[in-house]
Amino acid sequence: MTKPLIDWVRPEFLDRQGYSACKSIDSFGGRHVAKLDANENPYGSCKSAMEAISKIDTLSIYPDATQAEIRAISAKYCGCDPDQIVCGAGSSQLIDYIIKLFVDRDGEMINLVPSFAMYKFFGEVNGINIVNVPRDENFEIDVEALKKAITPKTKLVFIAEPNNPTGNVTPLEIIEEVLKLGIPTVSDEAYYEFTGVTALPLMKKYENLMVLRSYSKFAGLAGLRVGFGIFPKEIADRLHAIRDPYNINVPALAAVKASMANIDTLLANVKAVCDERDRLLVELAKFSWLKVYPSKSNYILCRILNGKPAPQLQKELEEYCILTRCFGGKWLEGCIRFSVGTPEDNDMLLDALKKV
Ligand SMILES: Cc1ncc(COP(=O)(O)O)c(C=O)c1O
Repeated sequence: MTKPLIDWVRPEFLDRQGYSACKSIDSFGGRHVAKLDANENPYGSCKSAMEAISKIDTLSIYPDATQAEIRAISAKYCGCDPDQIVCGAGSSQLIDYIIKLFVDRDGEMINLVPSFAMYKFFGEVNGINIVNVPRDENFEIDVEALKKAITPKTKLVFIAEPNNPTGNVTPLEIIEEVLKLGIPTVSDEAYYEFTGVTALPLMKKYENLMVLRSYSKFAGLAGLRVGFGIFPKEIADRLHAIRDPYNINVPALAAVKASMANIDTLLANVKAVCDERDRLLVELAKFSWLKVYPSKSNYILCRILNGKPAPQLQKELEEYCILTRCFGGKWLEGCIRFSVGTPEDNDMLLDALKKV
């Protein structure tokens, strides 16, 4: 008798739970769903992106392994050299590659918790040591605590700028303080277009800075999985050397090209989302049982003050066809996050909150 395959699986993966992804809208039987759970773009992708995909004449050829065109587009967009750009199947894939490049199994990565769940996810899958450094009560980075957590084994720090799910932007002076510690540091700017705040200019001054961006949010291309990072050239070269060669697929490239040719439309949608975010911040604050955290992004975190567990509120909102996100773990227990939707979807949320 041969041993079953499951007996060969690495023990550390036997009990591992996967990422708890968002609920599918299929279960709502065609009813309109306010999908406020995944920080997606409520206005979708631009029409020209869909048209470009429909005009692709073959899918039988592998995509360009050098990423030449998409690197050039991304470089032009952020004013840097294409040699500094590496693209990923979502910026999430670059998080994985960066961990692989810098942190070996003895190394430590600092996670400024609470923060984006994929840092922990990829840290665990890569078998590295994750050192949690809690943020303060307003979710600001506690630089003194960070300093104390640094050891000779510390190889990487992630800063979500703005932080997800809390919505706050770390002031650039604080990012500089972190950079001065000399550890490789990522400013993860997946929501940059909503905040307008970027650490990118600091790359001229600090050689240990890397910046991540995403086409998922502002360009509404989450379904195609495409993002990019800006790195010192020699780091970009090392990342190219470890990445999946064909990670940017043919439709993703076509859609990015067409979208970026219509950047004014994308930025008009970003502005509409920001206006709605500001309206929602005001309207949500009228619920005495919610503590609303300030947000510069396209989502708003609230703490539930009336004792109702967040998963229960989430479930009640689902009855009104509204999808939201809540989180386990000690820092975010009792919190719920609402992505900013269209005005209609946000009204649905506000109305439902009056009824639950
Ligand atoms: C802070 C942060 N970084 C990175 C990502 C990854 O985005 P994507 O892989 O879609 O580019 C997300 C997605 O929600 C995020 O919230």
